[in-house]
Amino acid sequence: MDAFHIEGGRRLEGEISVNGSKNAALPLMAAALLTNEPVVLRSVPDLADIRNMQKLLDELGCEVSSSESGSPRAVTLHVNDESISHARYDIVRTMRASVCVLGPMLARRGRARVSMPGGCAIGERPIDLHLRGLRALGAQIELDEGDVIATAPGGRLRGATVFLGGPFGSTVLGTANVMSAATLAQGTTVIESAACEPEIADVAALLNAMGARISGAGTPRVTIEGVDQLHGAEHSVIPDRIEAGTLMCAAAMTNGSVQIHDVPLDSMLAVVDRLTALGVVVQPEPSDDPQRVSCRVTCERVLKPIRVTTQPHPGFPTDLQAQMMALLCLADGNSIVTEKVFPERFLHVAELSRMGAELHRQGATVVVTGVRGLRGAPVMASDLRASASLVLAGLAAAGETVVNRVYHLDRGYENLEARLEQLGAAITRRGDSV
Ligand code: EPZ
Repeated sequence: MDAFHIEGGRRLEGEISVNGSKNAALPLMAAALLTNEPVVLRSVPDLADIRNMQKLLDELGCEVSSSESGSPRAVTLHVNDESISHARYDIVRTMRASVCVLGPMLARRGRARVSMPGGCAIGERPIDLHLRGLRALGAQIELDEGDVIATAPGGRLRGATVFLGGPFGSTVLGTANVMSAATLAQGTTVIESAACEPEIADVAALLNAMGARISGAGTPRVTIEGVDQLHGAEHSVIPDRIEAGTLMCAAAMTNGSVQIHDVPLDSMLAVVDRLTALGVVVQPEPSDDPQRVSCRVTCERVLKPIRVTTQPHPGFPTDLQAQMMALLCLADGNSIVTEKVFPERFLHVAELSRMGAELHRQGATVVVTGVRGLRGAPVMASDLRASASLVLAGLAAAGETVVNRVYHLDRGYENLEARLEQLGAAITRRGDSV
């Protein structure tokens, strides 16, 4: 298993571009199951999770090919066999986002068997809201041997009104599943308390380009008028707001000055609000596309303590909680971080403490007492965003940090070490014994 070796204390300077969004690309790829015509996606990031999704779709009869040369990388998806509709456990357990094939497959083929995703490092990952939504569309759902077995009576779902709110707000992939399934249902579907994440709006944009009739995507109420079939389309994946936020934190952690291109600033108002309160300066350049803005990121000499509470979009994203916590370790005072989406998402706390951070957790809240500096140490990555948090801490820490098990990081960040090195970081990838 690979590890990152980081010699901290270097200021990051230079330019970097944000890649396409992993969390948009995955449901966008699954949407190709809704047609037997080719779907072309551009700006698909080259990540472990994307390769896993390619493997899953291949098993489900969808041929996936990607243009290796040139950028942005284009991926062509073309279903040529609809006989197998079983997303097997040994693929789903490696990536719970595989569940997003459930809705498209059920709508198009009238049946779907998808392994229940297990829990993961950030907490329990139920899919009860997904199933509530699909049942509302008339699906018959059984659970057998750890699999969800869904069938559409008579081969077609029917439109309905469904409330998708849960104890932690809405569900992103649940909204994608129900919205995708509703595109081919008989009649109109209204999703109340839909997830408002920009990735949902991006999936709706592709589906409408394929001939669907969706309105309100990106708001809490989404309306889908069912159609008989969908055709192929081409679409560019929106930039990754979580990668953009991670890079902003990296620039601030090292008191650097970084020009970040293709920032989806329009989807990051909560993030910029918190960074600005902290003393980070995000300076956008004029742009005719609010989802692709070039920003200069610097920070004031002394970072001020703040409160951060994660919430569903448009609130502060849970996927940036760990990275923000690393940055708050260097603020001048006590900050408070509260996690309202995944209350157990704190595996990075113990590892940051090994680097000299002063963190005090009480349930879903962590008090971060700023310290004058972090100290390099060997640490263990546990999940995608916790890994990013440890890399950020290593960039700022005095001495060497070894981040073990960076396969977690490879799931969501493309070529991160090389891109950070280009900005002046002293970071190398090596095989390790852990
Ligand atoms: C998506 O996961 C993202 N993944 C996650 O990013 C992200 O953290 C999450 O949304 C929240 O923003 C992808 O898009 C591939 P949810 P998803 O269903 O859709 C509860 C990353 O690091 N819930 O919105 O699986 C759930 O337990 C990943 O890139 C139910 O109770 O998340 C959680 O507390 C990690 N019942 C909350 O809702 C359900 O049926 C939000 O989960 C579904 C979810």
